Amino acid sequence: MKPVKIGLLGLGTVGGGTATVLQRNADEIARRAGRGIVVTHAARNRERADALGLAQTRISTDPWDVVGDPEIAVVVELIGGEHPALDLVMSAITQGKHVVTANKALIALHGNQIFAAAREHGVMVAFEGAVAGGIPIIKAIREGLAGNDIEWLAGIINGTSNYVLTEMREHAREFSEVLHEAQQLGYAEADPTFDVEGIDAAHKLTILASIAFGVPLQFDRVYTEGISRITPDDIAYAGELGYRIKHLGIARRTFGAVELRVHPTLIPERCLLASVDGVMNAVLVKADAVGQTLYYGPGAGAEPTASAVVADLVEVVRTLTADPENRVPHLAFQPDALSDARVLDMEEVESAYYLRMRAQDQPGVLADISRILGDSRISIEAVVQKEPAAGETSVPLILLTRRVQERRVSQAIAAIEQLPSVAGDVVRIRMETLE
Ligand code: HSE
Repeated sequence: MKPVKIGLLGLGTVGGGTATVLQRNADEIARRAGRGIVVTHAARNRERADALGLAQTRISTDPWDVVGDPEIAVVVELIGGEHPALDLVMSAITQGKHVVTANKALIALHGNQIFAAAREHGVMVAFEGAVAGGIPIIKAIREGLAGNDIEWLAGIINGTSNYVLTEMREHAREFSEVLHEAQQLGYAEADPTFDVEGIDAAHKLTILASIAFGVPLQFDRVYTEGISRITPDDIAYAGELGYRIKHLGIARRTFGAVELRVHPTLIPERCLLASVDGVMNAVLVKADAVGQTLYYGPGAGAEPTASAVVADLVEVVRTLTADPENRVPHLAFQPDALSDARVLDMEEVESAYYLRMRAQDQPGVLADISRILGDSRISIEAVVQKEPAAGETSVPLILLTRRVQERRVSQAIAAIEQLPSVAGDVVRIRMETLE
């Protein structure tokens, strides 16, 4: 059979990795797909294409020329960002071309529209590379766990934040210093606030939740909090109490509703996710039949992400001749069987909490704080009071609570912050046992 001709939009890190893997592993890929896969048209730099071994590939400076090329059967979108990626992808779909993308923002924000158009035109849109880079987490959840009722998932899905937290813990370094280093090492997004304020993780969680629970993509309903306010002290105190602080994306089905949240989280040191360090990603999935399964690997980078993109290409090529009705649905569940489960507001979510405050070292202060927590029916699991530093009259006070609705904790924190014996804001970090 003749090779399938693909158009490649973007010859940057992931585009370059994809071109390299497609050429290096061409024989193995053809054995799996049943046909060769060849990049015949790409955008946009001739010199870069030559350096990648794409000397025979037509290069256009305008990505629209690639999308409009009638010879191309599959468009691989590796430009990233919302625009012009959305218009290019929608145009490819309306021309009857299949699409492979690693663009998490595109899928999280516009996936509902993209998949509806893809169904209308009978084409596939594959996006394994959009979540957790090289980890085949989309296929694992969508196909490997298809027999399960998925209860929850929790993932370290932003390598930059994980790198920053790891460095802060291992070397007691400040947030801003490590972030600067992560940018220089090339891990961070073009706008690093996407990484450290949790937006990138929220894009990925939106996609994971949708394929896990069969709910529409709802990025704007994800509670999102980043790591920029985590201090080396919090990491050290958590460690003394047997916990690590990880930046997690958590999706949970709960009483007919769904929790979608991204935030720093204390997790027990003994759990496997706590050992996922540096830029690595991992996703822990709890499902009713299989129990817990853990997926670990590189969440970014040229060839790891290319691994996911090429796997999608192989899948698309294998199923080119399949009746669209018999293909794996884009979001795992049949489109007419999506659930309208409500996404909970964060104040409705239940969690345990780490609370840190600076309190006067004098009689009655702890009693005042415990009374406020008791009045809000918040049960305390542990209390740690540090020695005052030389010349200081206030001390760091750390409290761990049992599980309680966030609304009650917010009310208690507001009351504690009013106490004259407590200075400044109370730091709140959520805690999960992941059991
Ligand atoms: N900036 C992302 C990360 C890259 O740090 O994980 C992969 O999406």
